[in-house]
Amino acid sequence: MQNAMQPAESPALRQLYSDFKTQHLNPLWTQLGDLMPRHPRPKAQAHLWKWADLYPLAQASGELVPVGRGGERRAIGLANPGLGGEAYISPTLWCAIQYLGPKETAPEHRHSQNAFRFVVEGEGVWTVVNGDPVRMSRGDFLLTPGWNFHGHHNETDQPMAWIDGLDIPFSFQNDVGFFEFGSDRVTDYATPQYSRGERLWCHPGLRPLSQLANTVSSPIGAYRWDYTDAALSQQLLLEEEGHPATVEQGHAAVRYVNPTTGGDVMPTIRAEFHRLRPGIETPTRRDVGSTVFQVFEGRGAVAMGGVTHQLEKGDIFVIPSWIAWSLQAETMLDLFRFSDAPIMERLNFDRSLIEETT
Ligand SMILES: [Fe+2]
Repeated sequence: MQNAMQPAESPALRQLYSDFKTQHLNPLWTQLGDLMPRHPRPKAQAHLWKWADLYPLAQASGELVPVGRGGERRAIGLANPGLGGEAYISPTLWCAIQYLGPKETAPEHRHSQNAFRFVVEGEGVWTVVNGDPVRMSRGDFLLTPGWNFHGHHNETDQPMAWIDGLDIPFSFQNDVGFFEFGSDRVTDYATPQYSRGERLWCHPGLRPLSQLANTVSSPIGAYRWDYTDAALSQQLLLEEEGHPATVEQGHAAVRYVNPTTGGDVMPTIRAEFHRLRPGIETPTRRDVGSTVFQVFEGRGAVAMGGVTHQLEKGDIFVIPSWIAWSLQAETMLDLFRFSDAPIMERLNFDRSLIEETT
């Protein structure tokens, strides 16, 4: 489109632009198209990382790179190819594979950034959150909301890997982050089956009367796979029996919530789990904000921005803002999902478009 405000080239105009530069000014009329596109045009790209590529690299770093103070974590950030090499999976979200070797300890620290872990395979690590030891097992979703001390220790002779999700890019862009070192070891090496937070909070539909004040983030340190799996199985069974339960035919889904509010588990990150029956294809949609999926089990495909990628266990993919996407299940397909939806909704930027199927 012709920009009506593009002036004719002249020595005076060149001087004006040069004076702007000297005074640290930049006119809107030369860059409006980039600043205010007709719809989001993300620099971040839709991208898929294969677990078969990620895991051996995490393993190799386990052999070469010590874990400890300074580096703090043996975490390898997934760097979106559109974001200039930064370890950001999207403009708001960080996703890393973290690897802890046999008998290793990752020292305690705390930061303003909100964090979670999701375990696609493995067993035997406890994460200690504000002194409360939380077992990490396959399928569990574990929380470390901002400013809670946390460290991890591996009690076994086997290494363990999991994914970390955080709001690091959002925090970095907006200069909101604080960081503090804690204990060089973890503060409690106990290995209970259930954390104190779970013992207090994880009884369906029951709220302790000692805890009636709402909290910004969920007080639950671990959302166990057994419950997630049962909730999804029951949705599909209810659907078979003819009752409303699923989000669409053959598509069961749950959101992890803060039991004090019913809202998202943390102020910046939404987390969900989706299960598709074999043969199901979800409608193509676009959403404002970015979202990340990890395949937990099964095979299928994802179409993102017109490109289809095959999916296997552990694969991680990111869908940037307003990129068209849909999922296809070949077998029963289980997917963990996280996104920046709470930020978008709180600021009223959220918008979705479900495309007509033909
Ligand atoms: Fe941390």
